[in-house]
Amino acid sequence: MTISPLASISPGARIGANATIGPFTVVHDDVVIGDDCTIESHCVVGLPTALAEGRVLELGDGALVRSHSVLYQGSRIGPGLRTGHHVTIREGLVAGRSLQVGTATDIQGSSVFGDFVRTHSSVFVAQGATIGSYVWLSPGVILTDDPHPPSDGWRAGVTVEDFAVIAARATVMPGIRVGTRSLVAAGALVTRDVAPDTVVAGVPARLLCPTSEVLLRDGSGRPAYPWMRHFHRGYPPEVVERWVAAWGGLPPWDGDIAVSGDAGDPGAPTGSGAA
Ligand SMILES: CC(C)(COP(=O)(O)OP(=O)(O)OC[C@H]1O[C@@H](n2cnc3c(N)ncnc32)[C@H](O)[C@@H]1OP(=O)(O)O)[C@@H](O)C(=O)NCCC(=O)NCCS
Repeated sequence: MTISPLASISPGARIGANATIGPFTVVHDDVVIGDDCTIESHCVVGLPTALAEGRVLELGDGALVRSHSVLYQGSRIGPGLRTGHHVTIREGLVAGRSLQVGTATDIQGSSVFGDFVRTHSSVFVAQGATIGSYVWLSPGVILTDDPHPPSDGWRAGVTVEDFAVIAARATVMPGIRVGTRSLVAAGALVTRDVAPDTVVAGVPARLLCPTSEVLLRDGSGRPAYPWMRHFHRGYPPEVVERWVAAWGGLPPWDGDIAVSGDAGDPGAPTGSGAA
């Protein structure tokens, strides 16, 4: 345990083995932190809020919270959390394993995230979002929840299904569903649901093409999507093996050998069961 003498740890906080806590970090009561966690300097962990209704903040094993981040009381985040700097996570987030949150991202809470969700920098996630597993939110993505701001009336968060990618500075309107393995192009304003395996682009966003028509720029002629056919970095072997199995475990696997086409591709896995 390496806790800076300049950190402030409330007596009610429960901190697992082998923690590292940096200077000027404040850990409040009602916090349960797993083993092998690092909280860098100038963080606030378990910030009290009435909206948490007494729920604790739980961080699973192996969390890395970079400096100047603020995590409110009342969220449950699985093992392997990694944040950039200046991240805010408000109360009521329930997230699976290996959540990565980019610098200056603001997650407003009261949302459900699956496993291996990754946000780049400066992402805004309004309340009520339902984010599947293996979802990518690129820099500057905005997921909204209030159709007629400001209002206390009807609100609906955004749903993003497994393996979907939302590209830079796209905005998704309240209550919209972004289908599995779809791609929202950079700068899109999404006002209608996005079908699985499609690319939408523009303001307002319209169908551009099936994802299968987007080709990698490496000259191989291979489709860029579903991205997990060729991109495995940072995912544990058992996850990649599940993806391979979802295609029937057929070699050649794109990540293992360079192929000039996809003649043997039995098609994308369907539904969240593919994960
Ligand atoms: C959607 C996307 C994947 C399309 O890539 P692509 O298939 O290589 O597309 P191309 O550049 O060949 O363009 C194909 C057509 O779509 C249009 N188009 C491409 N991207 C567009 C976008 N974001 N919005 C609107 N139209 C777009 C192009 O103008 C072109 O139209 P044209 O044929 O009339 O000239 C790509 O534009 C995109 O958004 N990439 C994500 C970048 C990003 O945000 N990365 C985040 C991590 S840094």
